[in-house]
Amino acid sequence: MSNRMWGGRFGGGPDDIMEEINASIGFDQRLFAQDIRGSLAHAEMLVAQGIISAEDGASISQGLSQILAEMEAGEFTFSRALEDIHMNIEARLAELIGATAGRLHTARSRNDQVATDFRLYVRDTLDHLAAQISRLMGVLVAKAEAHADTIMPGFTHLQPAQPVSFGHHMLAYVEMLSRDHGRLMDARKRLNESPLGAAALAGTGFDIDRHATAQALGFDAPTGNSMDSVSARDFALEALSAAAICATHLSRLAEEIVVFATPNFGFFTLPDAFSTGSSIMPQKRNPDAAELIRAKSGRIIGSLTGLFVVMKGLPLAYSKDMQEDKEGVFNALDSLSLCLAAMAGMMDTLGVNPTAMRAAAGSGFSTATDLADWLVREAGLPFRDAHHATGALVAMAEEKACLLDELSLADMQSVHASITQGIYDVLSVENSVKSRTSYGGTAPDNVRAMVAQWQAWLKAREVGQ
Ligand code: ARG
Repeated sequence: MSNRMWGGRFGGGPDDIMEEINASIGFDQRLFAQDIRGSLAHAEMLVAQGIISAEDGASISQGLSQILAEMEAGEFTFSRALEDIHMNIEARLAELIGATAGRLHTARSRNDQVATDFRLYVRDTLDHLAAQISRLMGVLVAKAEAHADTIMPGFTHLQPAQPVSFGHHMLAYVEMLSRDHGRLMDARKRLNESPLGAAALAGTGFDIDRHATAQALGFDAPTGNSMDSVSARDFALEALSAAAICATHLSRLAEEIVVFATPNFGFFTLPDAFSTGSSIMPQKRNPDAAELIRAKSGRIIGSLTGLFVVMKGLPLAYSKDMQEDKEGVFNALDSLSLCLAAMAGMMDTLGVNPTAMRAAAGSGFSTATDLADWLVREAGLPFRDAHHATGALVAMAEEKACLLDELSLADMQSVHASITQGIYDVLSVENSVKSRTSYGGTAPDNVRAMVAQWQAWLKAREVGQ
């Protein structure tokens, strides 16, 4: 049998394989609520414009509401022969209200319909993800507040570099996540225009009111060009880009959890609820959640790449290639949502071991920069000379297998005569961290001030969003 929706000129139905490759109902059924929302707005507008009768409009709306209820209850039987969510809904509407159902598709096409549904879906999801990011930021800000005075080694090249506040380390991720939040909201702003009424690609001769449907669906405005309306997917690319960057940030934090929770570091203790044991090695506590967050960035970045490749050679306007936009987006945004939830749960319950952090912070001559800075400040040396003299002191300490502040004053003076007792004030890691008061620096007072700023930021979003 040929397709009821478009099969007028066809003598027979599609090959089974054609049906299989063509159908999107397996995945686009997830757009049912958005599809029905769009149809309700469209029908209402058609009535208001006198394009269909109020009576027909009412029975269409009633039928659509019943379908929504059936779908929400999981009682709807989707049919692959009906290809996609749009035609599944329309066919059911015809079962419910008869031939009047056919009036709903006046002055629209599946091309503007799917573009509208997908924008609505991505918009809802961006809002949800932004809220999840805020939640995770809240968890990290709380950790930062509790650990402003906890000292750990700061690393470059994963080599001990300079001691820092663990709270400061946490706030670095808060900064990243706030930019992720901003990127999602930027994407939302550009996405928020309604393609509905662009019809197949050229607009329509019916006297429709696209401003009304845009407003009914919470869009800022209708899109300005009918061809762009049905062929643009950059809103999805932007959402995926923002998601991929956020996933990359989560992956970096996950990597640190994996590393810092090894007994060799011992900075973190993994919570029972977010780790696993080994079936053969009874002593093991594995950071599986962190590893999976680290790994899931792969599929999120992959979805972005996948959609880029789908879109890159497409001529205007709609091509069926674009049906391939959905699964990657669903998969990527679902995965990011899961990662954000898992990361928030894990960070909230993570054990932090200040003793191990403090012990490691003192190793690796981590206050060597403070020593060089002292020579510049107190002895008037050019920084390069101070750097050189400090290097000699580090070599001496290494040879004596002691820390910098365990070198005697005489040893120090043998390298540079102008060194005095005062140098010991800057060699402790506590004083080193405390001294970094430049804006954005790691001094615990700075950290506390930043914590207060982020708390205000989070509060404003809780109320204002
Ligand atoms: N299932 C299609 C998609 O996801 C809907 C649009 C179909 N349009 C068409 N002209 N065949 O893109």
